[in-house]
Parts: sequence; structure tokens; C-alpha cells
Amino acid sequence: MSRIKVKSAKEIELIRDAGALAAETLIRAGELCKPGVSTAAIDQFVYDYTVAHGGISACLGYHGYPKTCCISINDVICHGIPSEQQLLKEGDIVNIDITTILSGYHGDTSAMFLVGNVKRDARELVDTARLCMDEGIRAAGLPRARYSDIGNAIQAIADEHDYSVVEDYCGHGIGRGFHEEPTVLHFATNRPGPFIEVGHVFTIEPMINMGKPDTRTLADDWTAVTRDGSLSAQWEHTVALTKKGIEILTLAR
Ligand code: MF3
Ligand code: CO
Ligand code: CO
Repeated sequence: MSRIKVKSAKEIELIRDAGALAAETLIRAGELCKPGVSTAAIDQFVYDYTVAHGGISACLGYHGYPKTCCISINDVICHGIPSEQQLLKEGDIVNIDITTILSGYHGDTSAMFLVGNVKRDARELVDTARLCMDEGIRAAGLPRARYSDIGNAIQAIADEHDYSVVEDYCGHGIGRGFHEEPTVLHFATNRPGPFIEVGHVFTIEPMINMGKPDTRTLADDWTAVTRDGSLSAQWEHTVALTKKGIEILTLAR
């Protein structure tokens, strides 16, 4: 018995609208990633832009989360909380993760941004994490794909580069709910997952570490960091399987 919701074409259209707004907000937020800019200033921009375009932040107040988006720098894996005290500096690698609700539906996307000149090994991590997401999406679009094919594809690329895949945080179904069934694993497993069906909408959002996969949560109860202090990079898209194949719903228009 599968609890994964099948969305209608109309619902997918609404998620595409929410996804486009999230993606457009993300691009503009990324343009603010310059040395000396506080992560709170970027968060404020995300709030203002979202509201100005009729959207609602899905993160603000979600299980008590205090800000509009997540901004995760260097060894922060995910769920970094924007703050006035935190200023971007030359060489940082920055993930901004934006989830926007429009007409009751969620669009969830994140991307990496480089602050000024970034060392080559960090750039390689960022590019490889992007490739991991892209290949995860591709695997999801192959005929008769299962959810487990996504993690297998991602793991193969991470392994080639001697990077690790974070296992403690996963992708998810999405729609009227922020985090719906199923849980989308980004790492390899022997257990075949359920088939991806036409009408399924979910995120692929691998977190790739330069060192070990182990995570630790800071005292703020949100910020997840690598235990070994190594750099971490993440990209995220919301995707749908339609009759025509896999479609990315979080693209700017
Ligand atoms: N956007 C994140 C995800 O990709 C979730 C952030 S929840 C928050 O699923 F509360 F931290 F914002
Ligand atoms: Co997500
Ligand atoms: Co997200």
C-alpha cells in the first residue's frame, strides 16, 4: 500500500507556479552573496520578495523555525539560521534554501553561491553536488524508475570523487504539505524503493560532504554541521513525473 499522493495536472501547475516564484527569489537572493553582507539581510530580501509576489514563506514558523529561508555556509550542511551577526566573507560557499507557498502549494529549491574567490577544492565540491542532483533527477526520469535509483545514482558520483552523502536529511514528497511521503534517500541502498509514478511530486536535494557523512546539530536545535568540520554542499529542485517524463518545477520564468 502506497501512501504517496498522485497529483492532478492542475495541482502540478500550481506547484510549478509556487516553484517558479521560489526559483526567481533564489536567483535574486544569490546576487546578494557578497563579502560583508549579513545572512539576515538576505533573509529579509527573501521575505519581502516573497510577500510582494503573493507568496508565503513555508519555513517561517515551521516547527518554530524563526526565519524565512535557510542559509548554510561552508561546514553547515543545512538549516542554517540567518542572523545579523553572520557576515559573508570572501571564499565562503553558501547554500540558500527557499520554500514558498503560493495558492496553497509548496515549491522548494536551493542552490550554492560563491562569495568572491573560492578555492578550487571547494568549487569542485559545489560543482559535484550539482552533478549529483542533476543525475538524481535524470535517474528519476528513466523508464520504470524507483525512488532507490535516485540515491544509487547520486552515491556513484559522490564515491568517484571520494566525497560522502549525508544520510540524516532527505528529500520528500511535496504539494499542499511541505514534507509529504515518500522520504527520498540520496544514498545507495540494496532495498528497492517504490516505483515513481506519474503524478508524484517530490524533491531531490543531496547534501554532499568533502569528508565524512556524520552530522551534528548546534545548540539552536536547527543548524546541522559536519561532525568533522569538512565542507558541505547542497542543491535542490522540486520535480514531478508527468506523462512526458521528469519535469523540474522550480525553474525561474
Ligand atoms: N527547505 C528545507 C527542505 O529542503 C526545509 C527547511 S525547514 C526549516 O526540506 F524549517 F528549516 F526551514
Ligand atoms: Co526540501
Ligand atoms: Co529546501
